[in-house]
Amino acid sequence: MSLIELKDLSVNIGKKKILKHINLNIEEGTVTAFVGPSGSGKTTLLRTLNLLQFPSAGSLKVGKTNVIAGKIVPKTVHDFRQNSAMVFQQFNLFKNLTALENVANPLVYNHLANKKEANKSALNLLKKMGLEKVIFQYPATLSGGQQQRVSIARAVAMKPRVVLFDEPTSALDPELVESVLQTIAELARERITMILVTHEMEFARQIADEAVFIENGEILSKGSAKELLSGQTSPRIDSFINSLRRSAFS
Ligand SMILES: Nc1ncnc2c1ncn2[C@@H]1O[C@H](COP(=O)(O)OP(=O)(O)OP(=O)(O)O)[C@@H](O)[C@H]1O
Ligand SMILES: [Mg+2]
Repeated sequence: MSLIELKDLSVNIGKKKILKHINLNIEEGTVTAFVGPSGSGKTTLLRTLNLLQFPSAGSLKVGKTNVIAGKIVPKTVHDFRQNSAMVFQQFNLFKNLTALENVANPLVYNHLANKKEANKSALNLLKKMGLEKVIFQYPATLSGGQQQRVSIARAVAMKPRVVLFDEPTSALDPELVESVLQTIAELARERITMILVTHEMEFARQIADEAVFIENGEILSKGSAKELLSGQTSPRIDSFINSLRRSAFS
Protein backbone atom coordinates (compact mmCIF):
# COMPACT_ATOMS: atom_id res chain seq x y z
CA MET A 1 0.00 0.00 0.00
CA SER A 2 1.34 3.43 -0.91
CA LEU A 3 1.96 6.05 1.78
CA ILE A 4 0.13 8.71 -0.24
CA GLU A 5 -2.76 8.08 -2.61
CA LEU A 6 -4.58 10.72 -4.62
CA LYS A 7 -7.64 9.51 -6.47
CA ASP A 8 -9.36 11.61 -9.11
CA LEU A 9 -8.50 14.69 -7.08
CA SER A 10 -9.71 18.07 -8.34
CA VAL A 11 -9.35 21.52 -6.78
CA ASN A 12 -11.38 24.56 -7.76
CA ILE A 13 -10.67 28.02 -6.43
CA GLY A 14 -13.74 30.14 -7.01
CA LYS A 15 -14.92 29.11 -10.46
CA LYS A 16 -11.44 28.31 -11.68
CA LYS A 17 -10.42 24.65 -12.09
CA ILE A 18 -6.90 24.63 -10.72
CA LEU A 19 -6.23 20.88 -10.45
CA LYS A 20 -8.06 18.34 -12.61
CA HIS A 21 -8.45 14.63 -11.92
CA ILE A 22 -5.09 13.98 -10.32
CA ASN A 23 -4.25 10.31 -9.73
CA LEU A 24 -0.98 9.67 -7.98
CA ASN A 25 0.58 7.16 -5.58
CA ILE A 26 3.73 7.89 -3.59
CA GLU A 27 5.68 5.19 -1.77
CA GLU A 28 7.18 5.53 1.69
CA GLY A 29 10.89 6.40 1.74
CA THR A 30 10.95 7.91 -1.74
CA VAL A 31 11.65 11.40 -3.05
CA THR A 32 9.25 12.78 -5.66
CA ALA A 33 9.90 15.94 -7.67
CA PHE A 34 6.95 18.01 -8.93
CA VAL A 35 8.02 20.01 -11.95
CA GLY A 36 6.22 22.14 -14.49
CA PRO A 37 5.65 25.68 -15.70
CA SER A 38 4.64 28.62 -13.52
CA GLY A 39 0.94 28.59 -12.67
CA SER A 40 0.55 24.88 -13.46
CA GLY A 41 -0.70 23.99 -9.97
CA LYS A 42 2.37 22.60 -8.17
CA THR A 43 1.96 24.74 -5.04
CA THR A 44 -1.77 24.09 -4.96
CA LEU A 45 -1.11 20.35 -5.05
CA LEU A 46 1.35 20.58 -2.15
CA ARG A 47 -1.07 22.74 -0.17
CA THR A 48 -3.82 20.20 -0.78
CA LEU A 49 -1.59 17.43 0.59
CA ASN A 50 -1.38 19.44 3.82
CA LEU A 51 -5.08 20.43 3.68
CA LEU A 52 -4.13 24.10 3.57
CA GLN A 53 -6.31 23.84 0.47
CA PHE A 54 -9.36 21.58 0.44
CA PRO A 55 -10.10 19.32 -2.54
CA SER A 56 -13.31 19.94 -4.51
CA ALA A 57 -13.68 16.36 -5.74
CA GLY A 58 -11.97 13.00 -5.30
CA SER A 59 -10.02 11.72 -2.33
CA LEU A 60 -6.59 11.76 -0.80
CA LYS A 61 -4.84 9.64 1.76
CA VAL A 62 -1.65 10.17 3.74
CA GLY A 63 -0.74 7.22 5.98
CA LYS A 64 -3.91 5.98 7.59
CA THR A 65 -5.79 9.26 7.20
CA ASN A 66 -8.13 9.37 4.26
CA VAL A 67 -10.28 12.34 3.22
CA ILE A 68 -13.04 12.56 0.68
CA ALA A 69 -13.85 15.97 -0.80
CA GLY A 70 -16.85 17.58 0.89
CA LYS A 71 -16.55 15.34 3.96
CA ILE A 72 -13.65 16.91 5.82
CA VAL A 73 -13.91 17.39 9.59
CA PRO A 74 -11.51 19.24 11.94
CA LYS A 75 -10.02 16.00 13.29
CA THR A 76 -8.92 14.93 9.78
CA VAL A 77 -7.36 18.35 9.16
CA HIS A 78 -5.44 18.01 12.42
CA ASP A 79 -4.29 14.47 11.49
CA PHE A 80 -3.16 15.59 8.03
CA ARG A 81 -1.10 18.44 9.45
CA GLN A 82 0.58 15.98 11.84
CA ASN A 83 1.33 13.64 8.95
CA SER A 84 2.91 16.21 6.67
CA ALA A 85 5.15 19.22 7.21
CA MET A 86 5.66 22.06 4.72
CA VAL A 87 8.87 23.93 4.00
CA PHE A 88 8.06 27.19 2.23
CA GLN A 89 10.01 29.33 -0.21
CA GLN A 90 10.03 32.21 2.31
CA PHE A 91 11.07 30.13 5.37
CA ASN A 92 8.20 31.40 7.61
CA LEU A 93 10.16 31.20 10.86
CA PHE A 94 8.82 32.76 14.07
CA LYS A 95 10.70 36.09 14.24
CA ASN A 96 10.59 36.43 18.01
CA LEU A 97 12.02 32.95 18.68
CA THR A 98 15.65 31.82 18.45
CA ALA A 99 16.68 29.11 15.96
CA LEU A 100 16.55 26.53 18.76
CA GLU A 101 13.10 27.69 19.95
CA ASN A 102 11.77 27.67 16.38
CA VAL A 103 12.51 23.95 16.21
CA ALA A 104 11.82 22.94 19.83
CA ASN A 105 8.70 24.95 20.73
CA PRO A 106 6.34 23.38 18.14
CA LEU A 107 7.19 19.95 19.59
CA VAL A 108 6.03 21.15 23.01
CA TYR A 109 2.89 22.93 21.68
CA ASN A 110 1.91 19.77 19.82
CA HIS A 111 2.52 17.58 22.89
CA LEU A 112 5.13 15.55 21.02
CA ALA A 113 7.80 16.10 23.69
CA ASN A 114 8.44 17.84 26.99
CA LYS A 115 10.68 20.93 27.01
CA LYS A 116 13.86 19.02 27.83
CA GLU A 117 13.34 16.34 25.17
CA ALA A 118 12.30 18.97 22.62
CA ASN A 119 15.46 21.02 23.24
CA LYS A 120 17.60 17.91 22.93
CA SER A 121 16.15 16.79 19.64
CA ALA A 122 16.16 20.36 18.24
CA LEU A 123 19.82 20.72 19.18
CA ASN A 124 20.73 17.41 17.53
CA LEU A 125 18.97 18.33 14.31
CA LEU A 126 20.44 21.83 14.17
CA LYS A 127 23.93 20.40 14.76
CA LYS A 128 23.40 17.95 11.93
CA MET A 129 22.53 20.86 9.67
CA GLY A 130 25.72 22.72 10.59
CA LEU A 131 23.89 25.35 12.65
CA GLU A 132 25.43 24.67 16.06
CA LYS A 133 26.92 28.16 16.32
CA VAL A 134 23.68 30.03 15.66
CA ILE A 135 21.16 28.20 17.85
CA PHE A 136 20.57 31.21 20.11
CA GLN A 137 20.25 33.70 17.24
CA TYR A 138 16.99 35.16 15.96
CA PRO A 139 15.96 34.64 12.31
CA ALA A 140 16.71 38.26 11.32
CA THR A 141 20.38 37.70 12.15
CA LEU A 142 20.69 34.53 10.04
CA SER A 143 21.44 34.23 6.32
CA GLY A 144 18.65 32.99 4.04
CA GLY A 145 20.38 29.61 3.74
CA GLN A 146 20.63 29.29 7.52
CA GLN A 147 16.98 30.31 7.96
CA GLN A 148 15.89 27.72 5.42
CA ARG A 149 17.91 25.00 7.17
CA VAL A 150 16.25 25.97 10.49
CA SER A 151 12.86 25.66 8.82
CA ILE A 152 13.80 22.23 7.43
CA ALA A 153 14.92 21.18 10.94
CA ARG A 154 11.58 22.42 12.29
CA ALA A 155 9.67 20.33 9.75
CA VAL A 156 11.74 17.18 10.29
CA ALA A 157 11.63 17.50 14.10
CA MET A 158 7.89 16.82 14.02
CA LYS A 159 8.62 13.38 12.51
CA PRO A 160 5.98 13.74 9.81
CA ARG A 161 5.25 10.91 7.39
CA VAL A 162 6.19 13.24 4.52
CA VAL A 163 8.02 16.56 4.17
CA LEU A 164 6.66 18.89 1.45
CA PHE A 165 9.12 21.41 -0.01
CA ASP A 166 7.85 24.29 -2.14
CA GLU A 167 10.81 25.69 -4.10
CA PRO A 168 12.99 25.77 -0.98
CA THR A 169 15.96 27.44 -2.69
CA SER A 170 14.32 29.90 -5.03
CA ALA A 171 14.41 32.82 -2.58
CA LEU A 172 18.11 32.31 -1.85
CA ASP A 173 21.20 34.04 -3.18
CA PRO A 174 22.97 31.59 -5.51
CA GLU A 175 25.89 30.99 -3.13
CA LEU A 176 23.50 29.87 -0.36
CA VAL A 177 21.61 27.34 -2.47
CA GLU A 178 24.16 24.56 -2.12
CA SER A 179 23.97 24.31 1.70
CA VAL A 180 20.20 23.83 1.55
CA LEU A 181 20.40 21.29 -1.30
CA GLN A 182 22.99 19.33 0.69
CA THR A 183 20.65 19.25 3.69
CA ILE A 184 17.81 17.93 1.53
CA ALA A 185 20.12 15.33 -0.06
CA GLU A 186 21.13 14.14 3.42
CA LEU A 187 17.45 13.65 4.37
CA ALA A 188 16.96 11.70 1.14
CA ARG A 189 19.81 9.38 2.15
CA GLU A 190 17.94 8.76 5.42
CA ARG A 191 14.92 7.68 3.35
CA ILE A 192 12.65 10.42 4.70
CA THR A 193 9.67 10.61 2.33
CA MET A 194 9.77 13.94 0.54
CA ILE A 195 7.95 15.79 -2.19
CA LEU A 196 9.90 18.61 -3.72
CA VAL A 197 8.64 21.34 -6.02
CA THR A 198 11.76 22.63 -7.70
CA HIS A 199 13.25 24.23 -10.75
CA GLU A 200 16.65 22.75 -9.87
CA MET A 201 16.44 20.05 -12.54
CA GLU A 202 19.95 18.67 -12.10
CA PHE A 203 19.41 18.31 -8.35
CA ALA A 204 15.98 16.71 -8.83
CA ARG A 205 17.46 14.26 -11.31
CA GLN A 206 20.13 13.29 -8.78
CA ILE A 207 18.05 12.86 -5.65
CA ALA A 208 14.47 12.17 -6.75
CA ASP A 209 13.22 8.66 -7.39
CA GLU A 210 10.08 9.76 -9.22
CA ALA A 211 9.18 12.91 -11.12
CA VAL A 212 5.74 14.25 -11.92
CA PHE A 213 5.32 16.83 -14.68
CA ILE A 214 2.30 19.07 -14.10
CA GLU A 215 0.82 21.38 -16.70
CA ASN A 216 -2.51 23.25 -16.66
CA GLY A 217 -3.57 21.47 -13.46
CA GLU A 218 -3.05 18.00 -14.90
CA ILE A 219 -0.37 15.36 -14.65
CA LEU A 220 1.11 15.29 -18.11
CA SER A 221 3.68 12.64 -17.34
CA LYS A 222 5.16 10.72 -14.41
CA GLY A 223 7.92 8.18 -13.99
CA SER A 224 11.54 7.68 -13.04
CA ALA A 225 13.13 11.08 -12.31
CA LYS A 226 16.36 10.11 -14.06
CA GLU A 227 14.55 9.29 -17.27
CA LEU A 228 11.83 11.93 -17.22
CA LEU A 229 14.13 14.81 -16.29
CA SER A 230 16.79 13.85 -18.80
CA GLY A 231 14.31 15.23 -21.32
CA GLN A 232 14.53 12.14 -23.50
CA THR A 233 11.02 10.84 -22.87
CA SER A 234 8.75 13.64 -24.02
CA PRO A 235 9.25 16.61 -26.38
CA ARG A 236 7.13 18.81 -24.07
CA ILE A 237 9.31 18.10 -21.02
CA ASP A 238 12.44 18.47 -23.10
CA SER A 239 11.33 21.92 -24.24
CA PHE A 240 10.46 22.89 -20.63
CA ILE A 241 13.91 21.83 -19.37
CA ASN A 242 15.58 23.72 -22.21
CA SER A 243 13.59 26.85 -21.38
CA LEU A 244 14.89 26.65 -17.78
CA ARG A 245 18.45 26.28 -19.09
CA ARG A 246 18.01 29.33 -21.31
CA SER A 247 16.61 31.45 -18.46
CA ALA A 248 19.52 30.37 -16.20
CA PHE A 249 21.99 31.81 -18.72
CA SER A 250 20.05 34.95 -19.60
N1 LIG B 1 -5.90 31.69 -3.85
C1 LIG B 1 -6.02 31.68 -5.18
N2 LIG B 1 -7.03 32.32 -5.79
C2 LIG B 1 -7.20 32.28 -7.13
N3 LIG B 1 -6.38 31.63 -7.96
C3 LIG B 1 -5.36 30.96 -7.42
C4 LIG B 1 -5.11 30.94 -6.00
N4 LIG B 1 -4.02 30.19 -5.76
C5 LIG B 1 -3.58 29.77 -6.97
N5 LIG B 1 -4.38 30.23 -7.95
C6 LIG B 1 -4.23 29.96 -9.40
O1 LIG B 1 -4.01 28.58 -9.54
C7 LIG B 1 -3.09 28.31 -10.58
C8 LIG B 1 -1.99 27.43 -10.05
O2 LIG B 1 -1.24 28.16 -9.09
P1 LIG B 1 -0.01 27.52 -8.29
O3 LIG B 1 0.48 28.57 -7.36
O4 LIG B 1 -0.45 26.22 -7.72
O5 LIG B 1 1.03 27.27 -9.48
P2 LIG B 1 2.56 26.84 -9.41
O6 LIG B 1 2.73 25.70 -10.35
O7 LIG B 1 2.98 26.64 -8.00
O8 LIG B 1 3.32 28.11 -10.03
P3 LIG B 1 4.77 28.72 -9.71
O9 LIG B 1 5.78 27.82 -10.40
O10 LIG B 1 4.74 30.08 -10.32
O11 LIG B 1 4.95 28.75 -8.22
C9 LIG B 1 -2.63 29.65 -11.10
O12 LIG B 1 -3.37 29.95 -12.25
C10 LIG B 1 -2.99 30.62 -9.98
O13 LIG B 1 -3.28 31.88 -10.50
MG1 LIG C 1 4.36 27.57 -6.77
